[in-house]
Amino acid sequence: MNILFMGPPGAGKGTQAAVIVKEFGIPHISTGDAFRLAIKQGTPIGLQAKSYMDQGLLVPDDVTIGIVEERLQQPDCQQGFLLDGFPRTLSQAEALEGILARHNTSLHHVINLNVDRSLLMARLTGRRICTVCGASYHLIFNPPAQPGICDLDGGALYQRPDDNEESVGKRLDEYDNKTAPLLHFYENKGLLRQVNGEDEIESVSAEIVSLLRG
Ligand code: AP5
Ligand code: ZN
Repeated sequence: MNILFMGPPGAGKGTQAAVIVKEFGIPHISTGDAFRLAIKQGTPIGLQAKSYMDQGLLVPDDVTIGIVEERLQQPDCQQGFLLDGFPRTLSQAEALEGILARHNTSLHHVINLNVDRSLLMARLTGRRICTVCGASYHLIFNPPAQPGICDLDGGALYQRPDDNEESVGKRLDEYDNKTAPLLHFYENKGLLRQVNGEDEIESVSAEIVSLLRG
C-alpha cells in the first residue's frame, strides 16, 4: 500500500506514521528525517538543507526530489511505503507522479490530518524527541513517564532547533502558501481523505487504520 500523509507542521504526521508503518509493515519515508540525518552526518546535502530548515523555509525542490527518488528505488519500498512531509510543492507532487509511474505504481491513499492553526504552535514548541529512536513526545499533551527520558529506550529527549516560535511561524506560512494548495491536487484525483487530527493520539490512529483498511 502506497500512503501519503499530509497536514501542517505539528499536525501529528510523524506521531501517526510511527503507528501506521508498524501496523502495515511498510517503510516510513520522511524528508525531514532524511535531512536531519544528512545534517548529523555532515554531507553536502545536509549542509545545504540546514540553512533553510533552521529558518523554517522549504529546501529547494531539486535537492528534495532527488532524495525521494533514490529512496523509493530501494527494495524495501516495492511492497509499499508511507510518505511523510513530501510532496510539499506542486513541482514535488508532479515529480512524484512521474517517479511512481516509472515504477508502474501510484499513490493509493492520501490522508490529511486537520488541526486548527491555533493548536500547532503549542504542539511544536512543546515537542521533545528521543535522541535514540526518534519517538516524539510533548511536554503537556504526551509527556514521557520520566521527564526528559524516552519511555521506549531510556534515550535523552531533545528539542528540534526549528521548534522555536520564529521558525514555526515561518513553517506555517510556507505550508499555507506552498503546500496547502496540494490538497486540491489530490482531491481532484479522488484520493484525499480527511481525518480530525485534534482527537486523542490513539483515536486518530484508529481512524486512519479504519480508513486504510476501508
Ligand atoms: P518535517 O520534519 O517534515 O517537519 P514538519 O512538516 O514541520 O512536521 P513536523 O515534524 O514538525 O510535524 P508532525 O506533523 O510530524 O507532528 P508530530 O507528529 O511530531 O520538516 C522539517 C523541515 O525540513 C521543513 O521545514 C523544511 O525545511 C524541510 N523539508 C522537509 N520536507 C521537505 C520537502 N518535501 N520540501 C522542502 N523542504 C522540506 O507532532 C507534533 C507534536 O504534537 C508532538 O509533540 C506530538 O507529541 C504532539 N501530538 C501529535 N499528535 C497529537 C494529538 N493527537 N494530540 C495532542 N498532541 C499531539
Ligand atoms: Zn527512544
